[in-house]
Amino acid sequence: MTRDIASETPLVSIVMGSDSDLKQMAESAKILEEFEIPFEMTISSAHRSPERTLEYAKNARGRGVHVIIAGAGRAAHLAGVIAAHTTLPVIGVPIDGGPLNGVDALYATVQMPPGIPVATMAIGSGGARNAGILAAQILALKFPKIQSKLEVYKTALDEGVAQKAARLAEVGYQNY
Ligand code: RP5
Repeated sequence: MTRDIASETPLVSIVMGSDSDLKQMAESAKILEEFEIPFEMTISSAHRSPERTLEYAKNARGRGVHVIIAGAGRAAHLAGVIAAHTTLPVIGVPIDGGPLNGVDALYATVQMPPGIPVATMAIGSGGARNAGILAAQILALKFPKIQSKLEVYKTALDEGVAQKAARLAEVGYQNY
């Protein structure tokens, strides 16, 4: 039996530490929209709203969420705290901001102790975009329609590179 995306129950939950993270985290949402994956988006802070974060993490699986994408900046404990309270895969996005330009958030998100993994993306918008793609790849194990869309997406990337190479040839560089 092939499974499919049967309902609008969010399969992915995007959570971020503050509304100041939204511009970057919107890149995750764009990808999920492109792949027609139902998702929700909310704000919770590991430090400013610890109880809300705990409740969110504990309830996510029961609400039908399959993958969590958590973006936070500075001392970014959001993804790790959520991972501590769920067995769902958690993808962390270090937000680019503050005096350390996201390097602090990268270290805080990636340096999880053995036993509590967070799949940590690159800093900023590019990382948020990859978080959406990785979530789609996880879901594609269960939903064939998402798998097909990923194949189309990868083909488009490949064609894009070939077009760029062709443009180099057009301006006179010898091409591979
Ligand atoms: C983090 O602190 C948030 O994820 C955000 O990146 C950063 C700054 O938050 P605001 O002061 O802009 O609300 O927890």
